[in-house]
Amino acid sequence: MDIKSVGVVGAGTMGNGIAHVLARSGFSVVLCDVEQRFLVRALDTITINLHREAHKKKISAEDNAAALKRITPVTERAKLADCDFIVEAATEKFEIKTEIFRDLDRLARPEVILASNTSSISITKLAALTKRPEKVIGMHFFNPVPVMKLVEVIRGLATSQETFSETRNLALQLDKTPVEVNDAPGFVSNRVLMPLLNEAMYAVMEGVATPEAVDEVFKLGMAHPMGPLTLADFIGLDVCLDIMRVLHDGLGDPKYRPCPLLIKMVDAGWLGRKSGRGFYKY
Ligand code: 3HC
Repeated sequence: MDIKSVGVVGAGTMGNGIAHVLARSGFSVVLCDVEQRFLVRALDTITINLHREAHKKKISAEDNAAALKRITPVTERAKLADCDFIVEAATEKFEIKTEIFRDLDRLARPEVILASNTSSISITKLAALTKRPEKVIGMHFFNPVPVMKLVEVIRGLATSQETFSETRNLALQLDKTPVEVNDAPGFVSNRVLMPLLNEAMYAVMEGVATPEAVDEVFKLGMAHPMGPLTLADFIGLDVCLDIMRVLHDGLGDPKYRPCPLLIKMVDAGWLGRKSGRGFYKY
């Protein structure tokens, strides 16, 4: 199918980044969230990030203005009905995604692919909620979406080859590098990354080192652009906890148990950068 218009469900960190790269690559974007204030915040973020790219001469001022105009913010999901492809980037909770996938299946044309930016939830399970399981796929972007080159493209058990090829092509049109992965808890990225962050939290909890020291080890010793605790704050500690729980439940191995310090911090509302406090203060 010739994809011209793409729907994005969820205007949070990932949703606004996905809308940004779609609009920058010439697609019309319908960006949907439940409340107007989330859309206002998303458009502010996209405006700042597009200006940053124009300032760095990655895009021209004209392209910048044109990209912004391609994004239509909406609070009614029905307005996604004319989209040629839909990416869901809502909160990482299965119940929330269940409601969204059932609704999208009802309102989108039968040939439209429904992709999820989930970081760890089973694509096979999301697909089974719909009458088009062969048209459901994982399209996992990385934060900050305008910068990170990777898209994990995840096949559910029923995903068709055609759906995979179209999704891969879309990622290429966004100037991303798609990597094919099969459906398993946390896919590849979070199955390997999250236990690293979780273990760094154990090191802090057990007094092995301060967050600053743990981060220095990884920045200077392993050339990571951010240490694991800065990265956890950047991703969001609530997101890290949700992903650890998916790994723990899905793989059943105690090595994936979430660090008690992580649980305590999320209980306290210390969610990292977005709440102003995590392993660091912002
Ligand atoms: N939009 C557009 N451009 C952006 C941007 C954004 N949101 N954020 C940063 N940039 C650009 C900057 O303009 C700069 O461009 P330049 O190279 O042309 O000068 C470049 O990115 C680097 O930014 P900065 O100089 O401001 O800062 P840093 O050099 O510290 O880089 C970083 C920032 C790119 C975030 C870097 O620290 C990094 O790569 N960190 C690791 C990020 C990471 O691991 N992400 C994956 C998280 S896991 C995930 O998302 C999966 C999920 O399921 C949990």
